Amino acid sequence: MLRMDLKGEDLPKYWYNIVSDLPDLPPPIHPATKEPLGPNDFYPLFPKECVNQEFSKERYVAIPEELREFYLRIGRPTPLYRAKRLEEYLGTPAKIYYKREDVSPTGSHKLNTALAQAFYAAKEGLEYLTTETGAGQWGSALSYATMMMGIRALVFMVRISYLQKPYRKLVMRLYGAEVVPSPSDRTEVGRKYLERDPEHPGSLGIAISEAIEAAMKDDKAKYSLGSVLNHVLLHQTIIGLEAKKQFEALGEKPDILIGCVGGGSNFAGFTFPFLEEVLKEKGSYDVVAVEPSAVPSLTDGEYRYDFGDTAGITPLLMMYTLGHDFVPPPIHAGGLRYHGAAPTVSLLKKKGIIRSVKYPQEDVFEAGRIFARTEGIIPAPETNHAIKAAIDEALKAKKDGERKIIAFNFSGHGLLDLKGYEDVLKI
Ligand SMILES: Cc1ncc(COP(=O)(O)O)c(C=O)c1O
Repeated sequence: MLRMDLKGEDLPKYWYNIVSDLPDLPPPIHPATKEPLGPNDFYPLFPKECVNQEFSKERYVAIPEELREFYLRIGRPTPLYRAKRLEEYLGTPAKIYYKREDVSPTGSHKLNTALAQAFYAAKEGLEYLTTETGAGQWGSALSYATMMMGIRALVFMVRISYLQKPYRKLVMRLYGAEVVPSPSDRTEVGRKYLERDPEHPGSLGIAISEAIEAAMKDDKAKYSLGSVLNHVLLHQTIIGLEAKKQFEALGEKPDILIGCVGGGSNFAGFTFPFLEEVLKEKGSYDVVAVEPSAVPSLTDGEYRYDFGDTAGITPLLMMYTLGHDFVPPPIHAGGLRYHGAAPTVSLLKKKGIIRSVKYPQEDVFEAGRIFARTEGIIPAPETNHAIKAAIDEALKAKKDGERKIIAFNFSGHGLLDLKGYEDVLKI
């Protein structure tokens, strides 16, 4: 079958909380005292319900009925496609499936958590959320979500992306958000970096520091993060929960699950519901996290406590990290320019339950070109990483003569990332 659709009423009613199945997940700790932190430490920063979810040990967390309507509005449940033309092009006996997270108003998976976070923020009576954005996908998603919930967004956009992707900031502004390039002169942290280098390209880590500082200064605002934290990954599990139902309806079971990793949210969202079976010893999957060679936190980083941001404002998180002061090269996959990876994803790597690979920018854009010319969809540069790994697995299956079932998360489209294609592929 070329595509598998679910009906509106099949939209999941619960998110899957992997933390309930990872009892040895190291907690966030205070940078000075090294004491474990709890909900009270996080309430000043994030909407209350998000903090409760961050520390929840409940296995299945109910999705509010009102929020489910917003999910329907953005096109959920999203279809699962079979990449038949790509399979034919590669001449592989493998079947390749991809979950279409690009089919939403802002074009990526990021809306799944943006809507949830903005929903809880509005319920709590907040006036706006502050955040950072790399590629601009997350900022666009939060701008849409806050607009829908009747509040506002203040977005610190990594300067290099602000310059490389002028249309993203227009999307955000059209939805009513305020967008500033980071480092900016709006915060003490930003001014410090600008003094050192007025042309500083910025990084997600610096933008996070700025967004946190801005939220802490105003009691009408709180901060919203688009990846890394448990509650964010929890919201994204709607992807994998749908995909599982779709594979069940197809009567198939994927052998290999693939997702690209920046902070880890689309990868987690797609794979965690499958990994629930692995953690309960009821199933096994080859689960592959794909990173850029320029920012290989899971592949080449160290597993240790580190700050989530660059300036060292956040608590310490136990994760694979390249060091919080690592300034990633300005590759076009802006959403993958993060020095660490989510603590849950990091622990799964440490335990050997998932593995990671890395690819250079030229190779992933070439994979994107192949995908555009076979399946007809132009992928986001981040998504190209997952596609490259899926192609490599399909070619390996061809060499070994194996009829593997490969599934990857198509995290977003690249219609606003064409400059990257121009620069890298010289088209
Ligand atoms: C399309 C797309 N895919 C993947 C990512 C990476 O983020 P994460 O690892 O949180 O899914 C981003 C981040 O902006 C993105 O826009």
